[in-house]
Amino acid sequence: MSSNPRLVLAYSGGLDTSVAIQWLAEHKGYDTIACAVDVGQAEPGELDRVHQRALDCGAVEAVVVDAKREFAEDFVAPAIAANSLYMGKYPLVSALSRPVITRHLVRVARETGAQAIAHGSTGKGNDQVRFEVTAMAIAPDLKVEAPIREWGLSRDAAIAWAEERHIPLPITRSSPYSIDENLWGRTAECGVLEDPWIEPPEDVYQRSAPLAQTPDEPEELTIAFHEGLPVAVDGRELALVDLIAEVDRRAGAHGVGRIDMLEDRLVGIKSREIYECPGAVTLLEAHRDLEDLCLEQELAQEKRALEGRYAQLIYNGLWYTPLKAAIDAFVATSQPYVEGEVRMKLFKGHATVVGRRSDRGLYVPDLATYDEGDQFDQSQAEGFVKLWGLPTKVWADLQGPGAARRDGISDASSGAPVA
Ligand code: ARG
Repeated sequence: MSSNPRLVLAYSGGLDTSVAIQWLAEHKGYDTIACAVDVGQAEPGELDRVHQRALDCGAVEAVVVDAKREFAEDFVAPAIAANSLYMGKYPLVSALSRPVITRHLVRVARETGAQAIAHGSTGKGNDQVRFEVTAMAIAPDLKVEAPIREWGLSRDAAIAWAEERHIPLPITRSSPYSIDENLWGRTAECGVLEDPWIEPPEDVYQRSAPLAQTPDEPEELTIAFHEGLPVAVDGRELALVDLIAEVDRRAGAHGVGRIDMLEDRLVGIKSREIYECPGAVTLLEAHRDLEDLCLEQELAQEKRALEGRYAQLIYNGLWYTPLKAAIDAFVATSQPYVEGEVRMKLFKGHATVVGRRSDRGLYVPDLATYDEGDQFDQSQAEGFVKLWGLPTKVWADLQGPGAARRDGISDASSGAPVA
């Protein structure tokens, strides 16, 4: 074994991270241990090829980690509980995966005595932030290298650099897009997508059918939740990782989950992003709806206010931070009541809630009904409205329209002329 310092690289099997292995050896003197973390991005068998490719490209060691279950349970589950959508739209596909990948880079670094970890992100995106800030939180002693950000090579220049050194480049189908994928969804950027006016070509999508080809009959899906987490589909209990895959497949067949958005990156850039998240969109819709049935209204309101903040923390790489943990604790106290079933209709790109029920819900038919059996005492409403409106009444009389009318001037506060 050489005495070079060791480094654990988050290895995808793509061009950049394949070239990075030799680059890190030449420029920094590292022996690289390639670490491919499976968060549901790969076809079965693909990661075995990725493993071999890492060795072919000069890694001293290669490890493939199956982190699908861990990703689903430790990262996606809290995001479901908190209805996490960045800018109200993006289910945080890549943002959720970076902390789990980093966790494994750190673990492998500890096991192999490595002094550094490395990621293949550029300097223009959010992913560099997520890898590095996660590492700062959980392993502040490890150095983090970012070869792609540092070398500044174009794709062609990287290929030429690798060919000079006889690095066996991965023969990837060269996609016109930059893709990131896992069990929670798929992301695409670059190429023609950089023009926000251009409709995304159909070849961007892989997990959802084009509307012209979706079934002309709607399909129903019943999702059961236990303590805020989806646990069964159509009465069949499934582990979260399998449940997400099942809902993803069925909703995708109806063209659900395509998201086209202009996104505010942490580094200040607005970028055009295409997401494909049939399962995430369907499950979040169902979860949110069940909360409307099960959560007391003040709690629900405060939770909604925190959800945007929470999504932002995840997006901005702040998974391992005290505020994130505090909001987790808040969310956790709300979820034991989120029990029941949601009926979803999948049709022509929509996942629509068409029914919900719960043994722990707060819907009381005898209070809500306009029919016989109404238990709501409407006579109490009169006093309620009077007291509720008292501050408004006092204000209107002394400072607002009432005062203005007495003084014969226009209403100063609203600018409206006095009638
Ligand atoms: N813009 C998204 C995010 O920041 C997607 C990033 C995708 N990453 C990638 N390396 N292609 O979460």
